[in-house]
Amino acid sequence: PASTPGFPLPTVHTQQAYDPAADFTSKWTRADAKQIMAQSNPNVAPGQNSMSPNVTMPEIPKDFPAMNDDVWVWDTWSLTDENANQISYKGWDVIFSLVADRHAGYGFDQRHWNARIGYFFRKTNADPAKDKWNYGGHLFLDNTSIGNTEWSGSTRLMQGNKINVFYTATTFYDVAERNAGGGGIAPDAVIAKALGNIHATKDGVTFDGFQHTKLLEPDGKLYQNKAQNPGFAFRDPYTFADPAHPGKTFMVFEGNTGGNRGAYKCKQEDLGYRPGDPHAETVDQVNSTTGAWYQTANVGLAVADNKDLTKWSFLPPILSANCVNDQTERPQIYIQNENGKNKYYLFTISHQFTYADGMRGPDGVYGFVGDGVRSDYQPVNNSGLALGSPTDLNMPANAPEGPDPRQNGRQFQAYSHYVQPGGLVQSFIDNVDGVRGGSLSPTVKMNFKAGVTQVDRSFGKNGLGPFGYLPTNKRVGGEGLY
Ligand code: FRU
Repeated sequence: PASTPGFPLPTVHTQQAYDPAADFTSKWTRADAKQIMAQSNPNVAPGQNSMSPNVTMPEIPKDFPAMNDDVWVWDTWSLTDENANQISYKGWDVIFSLVADRHAGYGFDQRHWNARIGYFFRKTNADPAKDKWNYGGHLFLDNTSIGNTEWSGSTRLMQGNKINVFYTATTFYDVAERNAGGGGIAPDAVIAKALGNIHATKDGVTFDGFQHTKLLEPDGKLYQNKAQNPGFAFRDPYTFADPAHPGKTFMVFEGNTGGNRGAYKCKQEDLGYRPGDPHAETVDQVNSTTGAWYQTANVGLAVADNKDLTKWSFLPPILSANCVNDQTERPQIYIQNENGKNKYYLFTISHQFTYADGMRGPDGVYGFVGDGVRSDYQPVNNSGLALGSPTDLNMPANAPEGPDPRQNGRQFQAYSHYVQPGGLVQSFIDNVDGVRGGSLSPTVKMNFKAGVTQVDRSFGKNGLGPFGYLPTNKRVGGEGLY
């Protein structure tokens, strides 16, 4: 293969599968992530989109509708089974979202400190372009979840009307921090679940009877904890079954490499350059001239030890982004048959501002493909970038609360992408050319095969489908069977 002039070649990844419990962690390397810039156009007029249209989310109109007038809505997921099917329950589609009160006196950027899990439902045969999602309110009663703030997770329908809600129980200790948005005492984070009941009637969907169980706290070895780094990430559980290991339930989640902040030093395997590559950096160079070792994201893996899914054990991370990026959030595993073989796609979201020194990429969803849950993952499109918000990558990175006016006004239009069956990608609106969001984006369709992704611009209007389009693909019970 030929490299882009001035850029290194990406790392060679075999996609080979390993046992889920094996001590092998795939690396998203600096050589891989440098392909994002290698594939970006250096000559666009400042503030345009410099990425290929194949990996760029179409522009969201500025006059987007609010999904709900009382709560901001962001990270969202569907009611699913263990195989990522989206379940219609007795004729209702159900989704779960982080929500925060729009009228409580804090701003949109303080939502994280005030997050609760809310839910919405609508008739399975609704017209997604016209019929609104009905807001059902908070999923859990006040002061019943573990922790004082509820962050992202996933929800699975179990036997009968039982559901398991896997979520992040974040606990803030500093009221000032909650109101001001950060900078105070570091929060605790545990991965928890709540087992409860779903009820459907002709009027809608309700939940009750939740029993909360703490499942996992970071061990400080495989997964960094709060004592090691107040800015640690440990969150966003997503559980699934793997046809290659029947009877087991796995969980992926967002973590960081264990150890004290700053103690990690970049290794050859984090850089991933091919021998003799004239554009390779050396380990010494990276460790002496950059602060890249501060960025230590990983995607964690755990396995359930009992059928009730109340006991879990950590396994080594399936992916690390040491010296590349500090956050690989909301990971999901999506298994797709390609030419008679199961291919495992790992999708995870990340930001511009969490990239390491020397690295640059947009806010969006990143993807990796391999032959098993644990494998030598090949980054999609050779770079890892699957779908980003329109961004001029020639300009420096900034953040949604303080964008550079010379940048593309849609660089932060959407975040928290959630990949659904059929390549439908849901996200929430953050900042569209200065208009702050808090509502679900138009769903887009991303075709992917053989490690290549492509936005389907024939879907919806120029590639933008209905707002908040999370359709179901499997029915449990029928309408009227209450
Ligand atoms: C992604 C995210 C998640 C977290 C939530 C908190 O948007 O950072 O990782 O659970 O938002 O609001």
